[in-house]
Amino acid sequence: MNYYSVFKTLAFNLDPEFVHDLSISTGHRLPAIAKFFTQTNKNDLSLSVNNLKWKTPIGLAAGFDKNAKCIPFFQNLGFGAIEVGTITKVMQKGNPKPRVFRIPELKSLRNAMGFPNLGSQEIFNNIINSPKAHCLGCNIGKNKWTNEKQTPEEYAYLYEMFSPVSDYITINISSPNTPGLRNFQKKELLSPILEAVHDKRVVCDKPIFIKIAPDLDIADIEMLCELVKEFNFEGVIATNTTTQHNYGLGGLSGDYIKPYSLDIRNKVCETLRETKDKTIIGVGGISTYEEIKDFWIKGGSFVQIYTSLIYYGPKLLENIYRDMELDVKEKQLSNVQELYNFYQSK
Ligand code: FNR
Repeated sequence: MNYYSVFKTLAFNLDPEFVHDLSISTGHRLPAIAKFFTQTNKNDLSLSVNNLKWKTPIGLAAGFDKNAKCIPFFQNLGFGAIEVGTITKVMQKGNPKPRVFRIPELKSLRNAMGFPNLGSQEIFNNIINSPKAHCLGCNIGKNKWTNEKQTPEEYAYLYEMFSPVSDYITINISSPNTPGLRNFQKKELLSPILEAVHDKRVVCDKPIFIKIAPDLDIADIEMLCELVKEFNFEGVIATNTTTQHNYGLGGLSGDYIKPYSLDIRNKVCETLRETKDKTIIGVGGISTYEEIKDFWIKGGSFVQIYTSLIYYGPKLLENIYRDMELDVKEKQLSNVQELYNFYQSK
């Protein structure tokens, strides 16, 4: 029986954020409930790229488990890495509700949340009180009221706090819902942040990614990739939600974003093609193994999922892993790592 389709029929009649909060509190209290929705894959699907090892090539994108309350639950669902956050230094409530909307005909979501989260100290406690994750990313951002001058210091503070308890850190400068945040994708504002974070690497050195918007032009992408190289960061996460739509405030994700995200991912892959020590994490509308394979061929590595989990449920992961393993068999390879190496060398 597909429990998720029953759950979805009920859930899609309710407010999206209410369903989300209910799922998080249930997953927090009963992490084993995930097993009702999916079958555990016992095979080796792990993937190692540069300094990171994920249990599978698919991670949970930021924004779902904002407060790090459900790491075991999402691992039980089959994710190979969990990115929590966005975490801000001080707790903030985010924008007024309603602020998450379904667009079922497009298998998409619109959100204007504005980083509601419990704040750095409480999220830190949640992480250290949770069983050790296979691979944990902490996505950090600035408080809504923090001015331009204080922003670099705030990212550095969060890096220093979370790098010892995570496997990688994501610098989020691409959410459309914090006024002015995307301006930090401009060189003159981004460089001081990266410099401040970079200086903290003497305290604890963890892979650092910059998460970018799908609404950038090629000059911005080239500049961002140059900065990643200059500061010797691990790579780029492409992309966040798009503002290129007429549905109202906030960013769109899911099927709608596919062409926008894909275009940006391709440009990032092209720009970093010769720099083998940089890792590109793909996110934005991904829902099939074909898309992942195509991303690997272009030079990308891990992927993340958010919106397609809502529309297709955890079976989506099972189906992608099944297709991946069929491809491993067809090519007479031993595991997913070899499959990835095969496509990367194409
Ligand atoms: C997000 N996303 C997001 N990203 C981020 O870096 N920090 C955040 O706090 C959030 N919050 C958030 C809330 C909601 C409701 C959604 C739908 C999305 C963006 C997310 O991580 C991802 O980049 C995009 O949603 C694109 O991927 P999908 O959803 O198309 O797989």
